[in-house]
Amino acid sequence: MTAALRGSDAAAPGAAATSGSISASCAPISAIAKAGARPRGIYALGDGPSGRLRVTHLRDMKRRGQRISAVTCYDATFARLVDTAGIEIVLVGDSLGNVIQGHDTTLPVTVDHIVYHCAAVARGLPRAHLIADMPFMSYRNADLALQNAGRMLAEGQAHAVKLEGGAEMAPTVGALVAAGIPVMGHIGLTPQSVHAMGGHRIQGRGRAARERLLDDAHALQDAGAYAIVLEGIPAALAQEITDLLEIPTIGIGAGAGCDGQILVLYDLLGLNPEFQPKFVKKFAKLGEEVVQALATFRSETQSGAFPSAAHSYSDPSAATEAAGTHG
Ligand code: KIV
Repeated sequence: MTAALRGSDAAAPGAAATSGSISASCAPISAIAKAGARPRGIYALGDGPSGRLRVTHLRDMKRRGQRISAVTCYDATFARLVDTAGIEIVLVGDSLGNVIQGHDTTLPVTVDHIVYHCAAVARGLPRAHLIADMPFMSYRNADLALQNAGRMLAEGQAHAVKLEGGAEMAPTVGALVAAGIPVMGHIGLTPQSVHAMGGHRIQGRGRAARERLLDDAHALQDAGAYAIVLEGIPAALAQEITDLLEIPTIGIGAGAGCDGQILVLYDLLGLNPEFQPKFVKKFAKLGEEVVQALATFRSETQSGAFPSAAHSYSDPSAATEAAGTHG
């Protein structure tokens, strides 16, 4: 179970699962660089010593109307695949509390957990922009936020942090940005407030809630956030926020009007066949493939078909020794 919108009132069991290929649906950074003018900044996309995609590139992508793709990731093996596919943003989300640790909420995730997974992802990620999620209670004042976000960058090798909350978080965002730590905001359905929200519920419905979210988005931008995740809000509101802001919006369950989209990696790969909320499109059915592969391994182990000679080692010297002994 992932944090984002899990159990939300948006869940619509039975939405069609589709399959397709990741590489077919993404534009590698090199292709983006060829297609458009060079972004301003120290290096053009893919041109720097490391070819790293940076916060400046994301803002340029918004200006050029190029949509940004983002996924969560928690380990080096998947990080290599995600980077190869050309995904621009990788988030080590506190959704790891759901999909890696098996909790119902993200609340048990700690700074140590995120740092550990972020460092693993960083080792497999030569190009994408890497963001570490700030866990529940790890940024409840500016000093704590600075200390913990510093660990995300220094130990976790992240390039930025993400934190949940609106206008009330502006001073903390300002302190982080002043310390040289890029911050992505996250408003709307904020899973760390699951108990305060009365569950994973769609936010921003009704005039007062809509205006509050507009104010939150502006407050985060004014405080220096370089991008904002919009989660679980009506598509028209997400579109309005996106049009009003200069910084990119990354949507999840927020419609097509955002500057980019993020999904939990395991959701988009279909690793949990039972999980089908309305906002998730399954771009593969890996859960079924994994079960099939494991069942085949088991039956070949039982029958003795595996390992064959092709998967076994021999000792060429044994034949020579045998010849010497008998000859
Ligand atoms: O933790 C997470 O995975 C997230 C997103 C999906 C936005 O916060």
